[in-house]
Amino acid sequence: MLHNRNDNATFNHFNLELIDPEFGSNLTDLIIELDYLRKKKLSGTTHPTIFFQLKHIFHMLESIGSARIEGNHTTIAEYIETKLNDKKSKDENILEIQNSEDAIAFIEKNISGNEINRLFISELHKIVVKNLNREGSKNPGEYRKNNLIINGSNHKPPDYVKVADYMSELFDFIRTKTPDKYDLLKTAIAHHRFAWIHPYDNGNGRTVRLLTYAMLVKLGFNVNVGRILNPTAVFCNDRMQYYNALSEADSGMRKGMLKWCEYVLGGLKTEIEKIDKLLDYEYLSKNILLPALNSARKRETITNMEEKILQIAINKQEFMSADIEKLFPGKAHTERSRVLNKLKKEKLIITLNDKSRKYVIRFDNNYLLRNIIEILGKNGFIPSNEEM
Ligand SMILES: Nc1ncnc2c1ncn2[C@@H]1O[C@H](COP(=O)(O)OP(=O)(O)OP(=O)(O)O)[C@@H](O)[C@H]1O
Ligand SMILES: [Mg+2]
Repeated sequence: MLHNRNDNATFNHFNLELIDPEFGSNLTDLIIELDYLRKKKLSGTTHPTIFFQLKHIFHMLESIGSARIEGNHTTIAEYIETKLNDKKSKDENILEIQNSEDAIAFIEKNISGNEINRLFISELHKIVVKNLNREGSKNPGEYRKNNLIINGSNHKPPDYVKVADYMSELFDFIRTKTPDKYDLLKTAIAHHRFAWIHPYDNGNGRTVRLLTYAMLVKLGFNVNVGRILNPTAVFCNDRMQYYNALSEADSGMRKGMLKWCEYVLGGLKTEIEKIDKLLDYEYLSKNILLPALNSARKRETITNMEEKILQIAINKQEFMSADIEKLFPGKAHTERSRVLNKLKKEKLIITLNDKSRKYVIRFDNNYLLRNIIEILGKNGFIPSNEEM
């Protein structure tokens, strides 16, 4: 549990403004490197259908991480179980994670036509706290109507009567166009300011991490051009480090704010580099997909024949019935169709959405998911403190 350091928490106003890091600082290096990653056209070799399944898995893991940061102890394995069973869960911990997944989907669907403003964030907050008690809100989508403290922090958020003003100042700050080189600093500063205002009675952490996701997508770290972004991983890998970095910035002093920005941008860079590795299909197939298949076969969740077909699927990315012909010597092609249909039913392959009769492996909604996550974990793609 957290140490309670908030007996004498105090409120210190400071102005919301951009900062200029020293030219020779680590932070400036990070800004330059991230800007390069933002503008670099992605030309990964991983098939989009495979990539989007991975993206989906990462978003699920993020949502578990975000809910877990305080108190929600659902393990990855437990959550996957509920996904595979397709059961509507009433468990608050599961609902909380599903809400975060819904909020990510909401951002991706609506961000391009919308501004990040009170209405947009209010929608996010409503989704985040939906149907929750312990981690719910008395006023979903509405600013708090009382004063509060942040567990474990020396900073006392502003009086509730000032919340609306502070928030509109923040939305102006986000909206006001500044030279591109400030975009990432702005994203980090906005994250701290939101948490510092603590506009809602609960769910501020989950909502602010989504605000950061929304800002990054708007800035062009865009999932639709193919980069999975895992902003929650940046903040949820190590909760104490996250809270300490936020505390540094609470002082409102230049030094603390620079440290906070360096923390956020450093985390982002690590995440983006990890994700870029997965876009390299040679890396992905050799280090993740084939070992996951192997592990599934060892546990006998797939048959020998299924393993052989899926190996071909992994090696070719797209495959046709003719590609597996050699596995059925002397058999009529109807036998292949029968097996392929069975694999489709088991959600182990998908037909591509065209008339070419091509298939792609599927692992995002069947028992292979467990093996994929296990292997991703072994390769350092999942925060080490996540319990499997
Ligand atoms: N010193 C601090 N200054 C500003 N904000 C802080 C500080 N310490 C923590 N926070 C923020 O407060 C959040 C917790 O607030 P709240 O309980 O309202 O959010 P939550 O979504 O319910 O919780 P969680 O973030 O744990 O999922 C943290 O996640 C973090 O974003
Ligand atoms: Mg809370």
